[in-house]
Amino acid sequence: MTDSTRPAPLDAALDTTAALKANFATVATHGDDVAAYFYAHLFLTHPEVRELFPLAMTEQRDRLLGALIRIVTHVDRLAELAPYLAELGRDHRKFGALAGHYPAVGASLLATLEHFSGARWSAALAAQWSAAYAAVSEAMIRAAADADAREPAWYDGEIVEIDRRTVDLAVLRVRTEQPVPYRAGQSMALQATRLRPRVWRPFTPATRPSGLEFDLHVRAIDGGTLSTALVRAARPGEPVRLGAPYGGLSLDPAAYRPLLMIAGGTGLAPMKAMIEQLIDSGGRPTHLFHGVRTGREAYDQAWLAATAAEHHTWLSVCTATSHDERWAGPHGRIGELAAAQADWAGYDVAVCGSPEMVEATVKALVARGVPDERIVFEEFGKA
Ligand SMILES: Cc1cc2nc3c(=O)[nH]c(=O)nc-3n(C[C@H](O)[C@H](O)[C@H](O)COP(=O)(O)OP(=O)(O)OC[C@H]3O[C@@H](n4cnc5c(N)ncnc54)[C@H](O)[C@@H]3O)c2cc1C
Ligand code: HEM
Repeated sequence: MTDSTRPAPLDAALDTTAALKANFATVATHGDDVAAYFYAHLFLTHPEVRELFPLAMTEQRDRLLGALIRIVTHVDRLAELAPYLAELGRDHRKFGALAGHYPAVGASLLATLEHFSGARWSAALAAQWSAAYAAVSEAMIRAAADADAREPAWYDGEIVEIDRRTVDLAVLRVRTEQPVPYRAGQSMALQATRLRPRVWRPFTPATRPSGLEFDLHVRAIDGGTLSTALVRAARPGEPVRLGAPYGGLSLDPAAYRPLLMIAGGTGLAPMKAMIEQLIDSGGRPTHLFHGVRTGREAYDQAWLAATAAEHHTWLSVCTATSHDERWAGPHGRIGELAAAQADWAGYDVAVCGSPEMVEATVKALVARGVPDERIVFEEFGKA
């Protein structure tokens, strides 16, 4: 479509986003000062909002402002963004965000932009930012209200068992007061309310849904705020909150194709939940590859070996190390190694691990003829 044939409202939306992006590009040259100003403004003008945010508001803790601006500057794609905004609005309930907080955040956003734009600020820009912010927040507020009618803002629970398998990996059993309605393969945000108040990170149940309990596999990241606390400091009885389940590594129950699962580290968790679900439904030909750096990090060998032996008619398991010459099994990067083992073109494939592992694995599979649309993946990166 040429410029002259574009409908007027679309033209206006594209002009707005171009103006917002250009304005923000100028503001962003001020680096970390922008977030510092935004939060100072927000907490000074609305002190009641401070308690929604984590205690330490370092640069890396700045989850809201960067994301907020990225989203608002895409207001020309509102229809396309609708499912994401609905999810975000529903999910914001766990932070304690209320409809009345949105204007406060919007006002601080505008004050911040005005402050750093200097002479470039104009009434027209202010009106464009306000309209874009209003459109995005309306979508989120509506979704939150819809979700309130259906489900709680979070699920309360506690860690009932802690099985420290290695120095930096623990299997936690969590019990909630009411069942969390997740599907095997989905993730959910977790907050350890006593240990790390208001810090939320996603984790992935390693057991299929059944009643009030599920397991999490947690690896402590060097310097990690929540993961190190969960692995090293959590005690039985540790109170936790869980957000609504989300994510898409779920199995299609109607699919008939054999399955290839490739997991790096704790990326094993969703595969394990899905295998448990397959056991319940009688099995489906499945090959699981689990990659770890060293043999010491192969933290779930007993379960993998026992399950593969019991269900050998449809399940095979292979654990490989990337940095352990003494490992008796295969060596190499798990994605490339698995991709080279067979012709997987007729398989459904699930991949889960670090963003680097997922990228390398998908690339290796596609290079070997696995159609893109048959591969589902989840990245356990920074949320
Ligand atoms: C959908 C999803 C599901 C997840 N499921 C699991 C799971 O089941 N088990 C599990 O152990 N983890 C899982 N994660 C990762 C988890 O959510 C946290 O990112 C991780 O525990 C680190 O949080 P933290 O608070 O300890 O670190 P932070 O304080 O957030 O970060 C500390 C430092 O580590 C870096 N960092 C943050 N996250 C990661 C990461 N994942 N890998 C490497 N460096 C990182 C940061 O950039 C920062 O420099 C999942 C992530 C996603 C997105
Ligand atoms: C249009 C409006 C908004 C958008 C687009 C938006 C977007 C986001 C995004 C994408 C994140 C990161 C997601 C995550 O960590 O799970 C986030 C985090 C957060 N948001 Fe919002 N948000 C908006 C409004 C609000 C409002 C009104 C509040 C309430 C005061 C709020 C409170 C928070 C909090 C507390 C966090 C977590 C911050 C942290 O962990 O450091 N947000 N927001």
